[in-house]
Amino acid sequence: KRKSNIAIDGPAGAGKSTVAKMVAEELSYLYIDTGAMYRALTYCALKRSIDPKDGRQLRELLDKISIILKPTSSGTLVYVNETEVTEEIRSSEVTNTVSIIASHEDVRLEMVKQQQKMAENGGTVMDGRDIGTHVLPQAEVKVFLTASVEERAKRRHEENIQKGFSSDLEQLKEEIARRDDLDSNREFAPLQQAFDAVVIDSTHMSIPEVVENILHLVEERF
Ligand code: C5P
Repeated sequence: KRKSNIAIDGPAGAGKSTVAKMVAEELSYLYIDTGAMYRALTYCALKRSIDPKDGRQLRELLDKISIILKPTSSGTLVYVNETEVTEEIRSSEVTNTVSIIASHEDVRLEMVKQQQKMAENGGTVMDGRDIGTHVLPQAEVKVFLTASVEERAKRRHEENIQKGFSSDLEQLKEEIARRDDLDSNREFAPLQQAFDAVVIDSTHMSIPEVVENILHLVEERF
C-alpha cells in the first residue's frame, strides 16, 4: 500500500515541528521541515548581503545552491552544499528576515518543486505554512495547528530560558505577531488553513495530546 503524506501547517511557534517529528517517528515516516529550507536560503542571502526584497537575486542564489535536509536519529541536519548550518539558521537575524525572503513567488515556486519531489513516494510528515494548500494539496491528512499568540510566545520564552538563552517575553510576542502578519498577508501562497484541514488549537493541550489527535486522524483515514 502506498504510504500517505501528512501536512501540518500553522503559525510560528504553534509546536508544528515538535509534533510533526513525533508523528513521523511513530509512523516511521520521514519528517520534512520546510521552514528550515526558507531559513537556509535566508542565511545564505544574509551572508552575501543580498537585499531580502530582491526576489530575482534570491531566486538566482537558490538555483546555485543546494539545500539538503539530512535526517539523523538526533534530528534533521541542514546543509547548504557541503556546509552544515543547522544551528545558524535559528539565529534571530534569520528568524526576523525569513518572512520577507519567503514572500517572493519566484523563490516559493522553486521551493515547492523541491518539496513535492521529496514527498512524491509518500511516507512524509511535512510542516510549513502552505503544505496543505500548495505543496501537497492531495495530502491524505491535513492539520492546521494553532495556538494563541500569548501561549506561543510563552512556550518559546520557556524554551529559551531552559536552553540558558536570554529571553524577553514581550519582544517574542511582537516578533511572532509580526511574522504571522507577514506570512498571512503575503500575496503568493499565504499562511492559510486548507479547506479540508482539521484545525487543532493547542492553546490548552499538551504535546502528547496533539500527537494522539493527529495519529487518530491518520487511523480514521485508512
Ligand atoms: O517553520 P519556521 O518558523 O521555521 O518557518 C520560518 C519561516 O519560513 C516562516 O515564518 C515563513 O515565513 C517561511 N515558511 C514559508 N512556507 C513554508 C515554511 C516556512 O513561507 N512552507
